[in-house]
Amino acid sequence: MTLLVIHGPNLNMLGRRQASHYGQFTLEELHEKLIETFPEIDFSFFQSNHEGDIIDVIHDAMDADFDALLINPGAYTHTSVAIRDALDMIQMPKVEVHLSDIENREPFRKVNLIKDVVDKTFMGNKVESYLEAIEFLQTKGVV
Ligand code: DQA
Repeated sequence: MTLLVIHGPNLNMLGRRQASHYGQFTLEELHEKLIETFPEIDFSFFQSNHEGDIIDVIHDAMDADFDALLINPGAYTHTSVAIRDALDMIQMPKVEVHLSDIENREPFRKVNLIKDVVDKTFMGNKVESYLEAIEFLQTKGVV
């Protein structure tokens, strides 16, 4: 089973961002945790600080062989109609993940342009949010 995992801007800086929101682990350690927890899944990881690069990867995934897509769009969650449109186009199971609880932070983080073009959103439990999202895909028999 194959899962495309997309991380948006600033997530390459995990480990140096506010631990109270994001935890202390690095992006590399997050990837290791996913691989270790779900050895049966073939992960493809992508991180970019650039909106267009994220859109290109979503477009490429339309003709690729992934069973599902997991995205943490970072701050683009709150601003990117373009990433929303790309996600809306792609026909595969999709989940959105946030390390922090974006509904209980600054008011601007309550704006979520992504949530209604994905199957489900997981947030607020740091690395556990990723695990919950993948368990959800497994429960659905997707990955
Ligand atoms: C985030 C939440 C966003 O509001 C923020 O801009 C991020 C990370 C999260 O995982 O909690 O960069 O998506």
